[in-house]
Amino acid sequence: MNAKVNITNRAGASFPVRRMNFDFNNVPEYWMKSSVGLTHFMTALSALFPAGEKFFIDSVRVVRNHPAIKENQELQKEISAFIGQEAMHTQEHVGFNAAAQRYGHDVDTLDKHTDTVIQTARKVFALVGKPFGITQEMVDLTATTALEHFTATIASQLLTNQNIQELMQDETMKTMWLWHAIEENEHKAVAYNVFEGVFGKGLKSYLLRTSSLVVAMITLFFVHKYFLLRLLRQDQQLNFDSIKSIYEYAYSPSKGIITGMGKEMLAYFKPGFHPNDLDSVNLLATWKAKLGF
Ligand SMILES: [Fe+2]
Ligand SMILES: [Fe+2]
Repeated sequence: MNAKVNITNRAGASFPVRRMNFDFNNVPEYWMKSSVGLTHFMTALSALFPAGEKFFIDSVRVVRNHPAIKENQELQKEISAFIGQEAMHTQEHVGFNAAAQRYGHDVDTLDKHTDTVIQTARKVFALVGKPFGITQEMVDLTATTALEHFTATIASQLLTNQNIQELMQDETMKTMWLWHAIEENEHKAVAYNVFEGVFGKGLKSYLLRTSSLVVAMITLFFVHKYFLLRLLRQDQQLNFDSIKSIYEYAYSPSKGIITGMGKEMLAYFKPGFHPNDLDSVNLLATWKAKLGF
């Protein structure tokens, strides 16, 4: 693997923080089976991570000293490890995004757009929710909880969907996405446990977290598609072949990465849902062994 792995577990949590230090210098321009469409699909996703994961970290950090969870030592350790993992993801996606930028794909602008969308949306929803007693902290944490469900679900697709694994032909990129996928599943319950710890399990928190998922998914869909079309157009590759390959990869009923997420995404709407209901213990053990973690 083209990375120097440094694994630490200073927080004493149930999962470690791995510093990967990938070298993206030799990643080909179209690293995903030489496909322009598929590569840009993943680059558009990667463009969401630096600002997105900073938002996740901030949302959890701001409530970690809330009296309801302050003394919960176990959860505090998980929060520290969660922050560590997300910070490492940001670092590696920044590294990959810079490599894509060097090929002339303007990910810098997309990164800035992501931050603008997040900051605008969180302020608007806090304003709309204020008359109903919804605070900025609630908006941020519930959005994080919803988006963490999305990342854990797309991650479990990466770990289970063989078609996608075969398409990722570049070893560095494949390892980067699989490492990120493993860790998203390792820490998938942290933001959720913080949310429940602080805001409880009542009807209000159910309505808050489920409506957040709907809003977050609609926003994410349009932002990601806009990024994807922008990358394709700038690359003068906005054509039938690119769209067809993206459709097959993401939305084909039998093997699409997005269509494959349906069942796990919907589980979030079950009253009493918890991320650990979706058992990924064996899946994680298999992949950690494969990657030598
Ligand atoms: Fe992450
Ligand atoms: Fe995450």
